[in-house]
Amino acid sequence: MRLDRYLSQCLGLTRSESRRLAAAGRVAVDGAVCKKADCQINETSAQVWVDGKPLEGGYRKYLYLMLNKPAGVVSAARDRRDVTVVDLVRDACPRRELFPAGRLDKTSTGFVLLTDDGAFAHDILAPGRHVSKQYLVTLDTPLTGAMTAGFAAGVTLADGQTLAPAEVGPAGADPCVVRVVLHQGVYHQIKRMFGVFGAGVNGLHREAIGPVALDPALAPGQWRELTGEEVSALRAAAGKG
Ligand code: URA
Repeated sequence: MRLDRYLSQCLGLTRSESRRLAAAGRVAVDGAVCKKADCQINETSAQVWVDGKPLEGGYRKYLYLMLNKPAGVVSAARDRRDVTVVDLVRDACPRRELFPAGRLDKTSTGFVLLTDDGAFAHDILAPGRHVSKQYLVTLDTPLTGAMTAGFAAGVTLADGQTLAPAEVGPAGADPCVVRVVLHQGVYHQIKRMFGVFGAGVNGLHREAIGPVALDPALAPGQWRELTGEEVSALRAAAGKG
C-alpha cells in the first residue's frame, strides 16, 4: 500500500495532508525516514512512526464499531433531516465508508454495529446465519402466557407472514419489562409481534448481537471499536469462524 494512503486511513488525513506530513520528514517506516508519499509499505507489518512516536493502533483494513444508539438518531449512513448513527462517529473516522450492519428504529436505543466490511455485515445479517439479537422491551401491558407461547411457536404477523420462533420472558420484577431474543430481522419486528397480541411497545433497547453484549461503559451516543475477540465471536456465530 502507498504510504500516503496508509497515513490517510490511520490518521484520517486527506491524501495531500499525508503527502505534506511525509515530505516534512515527520514519518519513519521501519526505522528510516520516508519522505516519498508513493513509497510502498507492507500495511500489516510495517512499523510506521510519526513525529518520533509509533502510530497508535496502526492500520486496519476494516473498522468494526459498537455504538450505543440514542433515541432520535436514525440507523443509516446519511439522512437529509435526521442525525444518523454514522454522523456520531464520522469525525473520528472521516475517510471510512461506514454503515450500520442492521437497523434499529429511530425511537429504539442500544447496540448498533457499524462497519465498512460488507462481507462481514452480510454474514451476520444473512437470514440463514441465525445470529441472534437480544432486546430489553418495555410494554404498555404485562407479558401474558399467550405471548410467550406465541413467540415460541412463531408469530404470524397481520400481513400473513409467519416468523421464526423467538424467545420472550420477564426481565425482572416488572411484568411490563421483558427480554426478547430474535433470530431473524424483519422491519419493526418486535413492535409488530407484540401488536398481534394487542400490546404496544413503549421502549426498545438492543442489549446484544449474537455473543457480544453492548458494553455497559458506553453512554448513549458513545462508541468503541470491537475487540478482535468480539469480531471473531461474531464471525463464529455466523458460521464463519
Ligand atoms: N424490532 C422493532 O420493532 N424495532 C427495532 O428497533 C428493533 C426490532
